[in-house]
Amino acid sequence: MKCTRKITENIFWIGGNDRRLALFENIFPIKRGVSYNSYFIRDDKTAVIDTVDAAISKLFFENIEYLLNGRSLDYLIVNHMEPDHSANIEEIVRRYPDVTIVCSVMAEKMMGNFFNETIVKKCMLVKEGDKISLGTHELNFVMAPMVHWPECMVSYESSEKVLFSADAFGTFGAINGNVFDDEVELDSEVMRDARRYYTNIVGKYGQQVQALLKKSAALDIKMIAPLHGLVWRKNLDILLEKYDKWSKYEPEEKAVMIVYASMYGNTENAADILAVKLAEEGVKNIVVYDVSNTDLSELIAETFRCSHLVLACPTYNSGIYPLMEHYILDMKALNVQNRIVGLIENGSWAPTAGNQMKKIIEEMKNMTVLDHILRLDSTLAESKEDDMESLKEAICKSLL
Ligand code: FEO
Repeated sequence: MKCTRKITENIFWIGGNDRRLALFENIFPIKRGVSYNSYFIRDDKTAVIDTVDAAISKLFFENIEYLLNGRSLDYLIVNHMEPDHSANIEEIVRRYPDVTIVCSVMAEKMMGNFFNETIVKKCMLVKEGDKISLGTHELNFVMAPMVHWPECMVSYESSEKVLFSADAFGTFGAINGNVFDDEVELDSEVMRDARRYYTNIVGKYGQQVQALLKKSAALDIKMIAPLHGLVWRKNLDILLEKYDKWSKYEPEEKAVMIVYASMYGNTENAADILAVKLAEEGVKNIVVYDVSNTDLSELIAETFRCSHLVLACPTYNSGIYPLMEHYILDMKALNVQNRIVGLIENGSWAPTAGNQMKKIIEEMKNMTVLDHILRLDSTLAESKEDDMESLKEAICKSLL
């Protein structure tokens, strides 16, 4: 049974949700589910903007059939070729053999990789500034390489001022009937999922996101319709401001995030003592995370939010505790920059984790590692009080 929503008089959301999937991209937990958004434009010509994941193909075709109402499908616009959006391209061509696929040069190449020559022959290539008219509606194509794959583009519909933004401005979380941002509370849960989506999926490509933001600034945008999550029509300024910060790798807040790894509670104890000392100095909203029971995607999202990081870690097999190492390497892979970092290491006989963490962090851009790694010999001894005070003071000096 069809399930669509009008987003303007003649543009419809024809996507759907997956609330059963445990891990998006088989990596990221999605407790609130995920939506795969697709859009339909009804005019002299008909167009579908991107397809959906294979998990919801049946619904997708019911939606298209309903909106076509006996007409043929003229265009399929492919802004992004990742399979959660491209899975139904072949089936579209099979059902609507006269359809023209509109895509970038790189997308056509990928079309050949994912599908076959029959599909490639249906492609009409577009480049920056090209447009097609559907009647009243006109789609203008803007290339958006690496947001989030190299073939990506976005499509701006100029009569109703809708930006079909592909992965840009997407969020985790199923659409629960309320498609628009002004139909839900933009509470911390929604924004946490927006941040977690951006930082983990697109976070590495800040420079390319900045390029897209500059191009978008030249457009008169009334609505942003991404491939995942809410359609934005009211709080565009909030979203664009967040994207600007995230893609410049600027912390959103002056805030301290302490991440610890601890096998028997001793490193955790040091992390908690530091948190208390900071709080006594007036530092508010400190967050403390156990690397062993916090999903990496949450840690990454919080890392993009906070200005100050403290990493507390035991030495393990002469190296960094594996889950902490994974977190730091992911941070590096995602191009995290511009943070102030304090380090605490633990080691019962030969602590080396501190210097190894420092080495990786110093390979990242504009990261300031505070002087003096606080060293624990198994536990935090009374004799380390001065070192702990020094770490606290260094954090406060740069924070307050
Ligand atoms: Fe949801 Fe990069 O695809």
